[in-house]
Amino acid sequence: MHNMSKIIIGNWKMNPESLEEARVIFNNNLQMIKGVRNVDVVICPPFPFLSIANNSKIKNISLGAQNVFEKPNGAYTGKVSLKMLLSMGVKYIILGHSESRLLGETNKVINKKILSTLKAKITPILCVGESSRDDNGFYLAFIKHQLIECLSSVPKTQIKNIIIAYEPIWAIGAKSSHRATKEEFVEIQIFIKKVISDIYSLKIASITKIIYGGSVHPLNAKGFIEAGADGLLIGRDSLIPKKFGNIIKLIR
Ligand code: PGA
Repeated sequence: MHNMSKIIIGNWKMNPESLEEARVIFNNNLQMIKGVRNVDVVICPPFPFLSIANNSKIKNISLGAQNVFEKPNGAYTGKVSLKMLLSMGVKYIILGHSESRLLGETNKVINKKILSTLKAKITPILCVGESSRDDNGFYLAFIKHQLIECLSSVPKTQIKNIIIAYEPIWAIGAKSSHRATKEEFVEIQIFIKKVISDIYSLKIASITKIIYGGSVHPLNAKGFIEAGADGLLIGRDSLIPKKFGNIIKLIR
């Protein structure tokens, strides 16, 4: 049966500044979600803080990473491999985040990472999204291109194991006047399903999980879920346990 649980992913980015602070935030998040059902929570701390989840006894909370390197091992100073992440208990990896793309990550590299992440039985969270919208709909072609290139050679049997996050770059870290609306999300959700349907099939498109990310906060979170999002990717507010907990309680 299709899993109806919503997924809430906290992307801590390059925060907080110390292991001690990371522990406090993680433990407070745990307190906030105790007893919550029908929501799968994923916390994606920076690599050095992945150990904070050790011994966590709460079932619906998993560990995610913010990226991975595409090679299995060897002379790659500063890089982190899939096997390392697996050994830390990582179950999800954010791939193709706009902030990583900005630093040079291409669709081709993201595609390689998706293929190897799936092989390792870790769930890739593929981020797509335009930097701005235009009246001619070029942003739709841009998103389609991202999807086609990033999903190249991914077999249809694996699409159910991927989460696609629509993250409009203009709405990430945005002030309230620039936040995306649930209607703007729905438009892209339908569009992504259409692209998946064209590449694979209508059936595959219907079970593809599409979540929303970009300035999600307690006041707008529920709207995206009611509009049909399978979950949310949360940056800033995932570092504030009270807000993160509120979002989770609101949408369950
Ligand atoms: P934000 O970040 O919630 O701070 O806008 C979201 C993201 O970049 O994943």
